[in-house]
Amino acid sequence: MSGEPFYITTAIAYPNGRPHIGHAYEAIATDAIARFQRLMGRDVRLVTGTDEHGLKMVQTARQAGRDTLEFADEMSQYFKEMCDLLNISYDRFCRTTESDHKKASTALWEAMAANDDLYLDRYEGWYSVRDEAFYDESELVDGEGGQRFSPQGTPVEWTKEETWFFRLSKYQEPLLALYRDHPDFIRPESRRNEVLRFVEGGLKDLSVSRTSFDWGVPVPGSPGHVMYVWVDALTTYMTGIGYPDKTGDFSRYWPADVHIIGKDIVRFHTVYWPAFLMSANLPLPKQVFGHGFLLSRGEKMSKSLGNVVDPVELANMFGVDALRYFFLREVSFGQDGSYSAEAIVTRVNAELANSYGNLAQRTLSFIFKNLNGILPLEGEETADDIALLALVNDACANDVPREFAAFAFSQGIEAWMRAVFACNQYIDVQAPWALKKTDPIRMAAVLRTLIKAIRDLTLAIQPVIPDSAGKMLDQLGIPKSGRDYAALVDKDWYDRLAGSGFKFDAPTPLFPRLELPKDAAD
Ligand code: MF3
Repeated sequence: MSGEPFYITTAIAYPNGRPHIGHAYEAIATDAIARFQRLMGRDVRLVTGTDEHGLKMVQTARQAGRDTLEFADEMSQYFKEMCDLLNISYDRFCRTTESDHKKASTALWEAMAANDDLYLDRYEGWYSVRDEAFYDESELVDGEGGQRFSPQGTPVEWTKEETWFFRLSKYQEPLLALYRDHPDFIRPESRRNEVLRFVEGGLKDLSVSRTSFDWGVPVPGSPGHVMYVWVDALTTYMTGIGYPDKTGDFSRYWPADVHIIGKDIVRFHTVYWPAFLMSANLPLPKQVFGHGFLLSRGEKMSKSLGNVVDPVELANMFGVDALRYFFLREVSFGQDGSYSAEAIVTRVNAELANSYGNLAQRTLSFIFKNLNGILPLEGEETADDIALLALVNDACANDVPREFAAFAFSQGIEAWMRAVFACNQYIDVQAPWALKKTDPIRMAAVLRTLIKAIRDLTLAIQPVIPDSAGKMLDQLGIPKSGRDYAALVDKDWYDRLAGSGFKFDAPTPLFPRLELPKDAAD
């Protein structure tokens, strides 16, 4: 494929439970960016997967009375199925238990060792299995009965063992220089400030191997040690494009353009990860974006709170594109957002069903019934037509891509909706159904204007609702080769299509009005 490479990743999820809304949200947002970049002509790679090592997986499998690998095999499959259902256009779904991933992790380890950044010592300190993270005494919060908690609210345990250490302290200055020289490395801005404060506070060397269990990638040349789960997990970003082979895809796609992750794991990605890469003498990712959490009517989704809504169930209930549209429209990317069945139904009905869907359905079925589905060519374009098309084209070719390029989906979709509203207003004012008797030539010009507008609107919204937009473009007869953002500046497409004798079939409504399921309102 030609075009500048663009490499994007999601975090890889711990498959210690079934996927929840947070995983679906991250996958959808990442996919929308990937699809957007593809439509901008970039040669995109999207890597996702599952993070299967670490104590948390061992403990969860044990509690379920299962063999760890067999448990991981089953659980990982649910994540893959979720990605497939949600139409996530990944190029590789990486499982950290795969053999090429072990090879990649071993190579990264050896590169860090070759740089004299690893040494054997004794670790004593606090560890949270839920976060798979070490915490400093000063970060902890006291709970009842002497139990102590991490700043994330997860229980910590005192652990002591012989481990390998990574000389993280050596990278304090280089990391601060990185944040200073590349202010866009950490986004959004609020996350950057947190990280700056943390690193300025001083970095201790990091324990990067474990001896108390063996579920992980073996440390090369050090029997009894497996790598700390985050070392191998982060390596996935390189496994997915062929590392340690540095000649093929890796040379084309690395460094990543952006890692999309949740705000709770920013420290791993903006402190540990760039330090490992500097140590291994590898280029650093260009950006890490920490998105917010989805709250169910204000409460954080989590397995332990028992309010997990299964994204697969939601997608089956409302439709994949409705769900994608809702998340990208409703949540300002980077901030927390709240979700409820009512909110999905309200938003999707108002915007996709009643506004965009209805605009397209009204127009296409009118042409189908009154003009046998033939694209009208007659009728002069009036100032009203020209003004509407200029407004729609400006929104679709300029505003939407500008906002999507900045990951500002909500704003991009808002600009798109304004153009949809303008079209609906235009239909109401022009009233083609009345023109049918009084001025059929003018009616033809109005319908032509609407088809042009609908085509632009549909091209622009593809990253958000790929399946329905694709079907709409099929109905409109737009060839696959004419569906990228560059096609928005093609002014002759309509005459070419109409000239080719293209005719609509009876149009299918793409966005039926959603109903609130009975038990969702409780
Ligand atoms: N499994 C980790 C979590 O769910 C994320 C790992 S992302 C990685 O918090 F790629 F960096 F490993």
